[in-house]
Amino acid sequence: MTRTAVLRGIGAMVPPRAVDNDELSALLDTSDEWIRTRTGIRRRHWADPGMATSDLAMVAGERALKSAGGGPVGMVILATSTPNQPMPATAPQVAAGLGLGTVPAYDVTAACAGFVYGLSVAAGAIAARLADRVLVIGADLWSTRLNPDDRATAVIFGDGAGAAVLEAGRESDPGALLGFDLGSDGLHRELARVPGGGSLQLADPDTPFQQSDHYLTMRGKEIFTHAVGRMSESSGRLLKQVGWEARDVDWFAGHQANARILHAVADALDVDRSRVLIHLDRVGNTSAASIPLALTDAAVQGSLRPGQNVLMTAFGGGLSWGSAALNWPDVDVL
Ligand code: UT7
Repeated sequence: MTRTAVLRGIGAMVPPRAVDNDELSALLDTSDEWIRTRTGIRRRHWADPGMATSDLAMVAGERALKSAGGGPVGMVILATSTPNQPMPATAPQVAAGLGLGTVPAYDVTAACAGFVYGLSVAAGAIAARLADRVLVIGADLWSTRLNPDDRATAVIFGDGAGAAVLEAGRESDPGALLGFDLGSDGLHRELARVPGGGSLQLADPDTPFQQSDHYLTMRGKEIFTHAVGRMSESSGRLLKQVGWEARDVDWFAGHQANARILHAVADALDVDRSRVLIHLDRVGNTSAASIPLALTDAAVQGSLRPGQNVLMTAFGGGLSWGSAALNWPDVDVL
């Protein structure tokens, strides 16, 4: 019998400071009306100065471990595009901070698709017997990398973290991850990026480093089109792979970038819009944290119930996209 990764615990957090659309409208040429109608976002949470991605990741990780009933894990995977620093990876710091000892811990970078990528890497590690239990965290802190003068990005992103504990089990177990579909297209890497700080454009005394090179840039309209197309195609392939019809999808847990994108993908798949999880209204686009945050919220609200089929799909810079299918287990959510 194949070893299959099974979800045993979930947890999430957003930093305390809530920033609503009116607060941003006082600083930028934008409005609550524009943000709500074009994105669905009403507010987001931004980290206070001094907070790092690892701080968010640790809280979500701790909550997921508690939700899974405690116990050791054999690996920590942190999906993030906003690590504490370029080197070393942030995952070892998170593992140490959680008291998990010297387990293998590493970062996975796939922008907003990071959590689905992290789940797939963890499922592979479990199948290959590299670990029996893996903590997967998606955490991003974009607020310090947003150009405060760029209304096209500043109103979109929020900070947060979400985490899951996966354990070795069987495909028939509640919580089993039933399949994945992943992809990338590096030809369109310029559509969403932070240009500075890597090997191509280091800060050095002869090349004055522009503050703006630290900021996230995004060509929203083009990303929108790619997002709808790639998430629809990837989800469609995964549905075929796991043998689900659109009507078998109890919840469509798509990356929370824009409510219009989520509805367009649901329409393309023929999944009823009432099955679309919407959490971005309260947290914005939280990048790698968005799917576990949305799942945790739905479980806490009681809309997501044991035995229901969940289709996750995510898309982001890279371009990178990924989908995963899961039968929701009976987990305690704290
Ligand atoms: O996380 C994964 C990757 N990211 C995404 O998936 C995001 C995908 N893109 C989007 O969600 C949308 O493209 C945005 C929400 C970013 C932008 O919405 P849009 O409907 O595509 O707007 P647009 O960029 O086509 O701009 C339409 C107009 C422009 O004005 P003009 O040229 O028509 O006069 C913009 O300058 O809206 C203007 N605009 C704004 N107005 C008020 C752009 N941003 C704002 C703003 N407030 N914040």
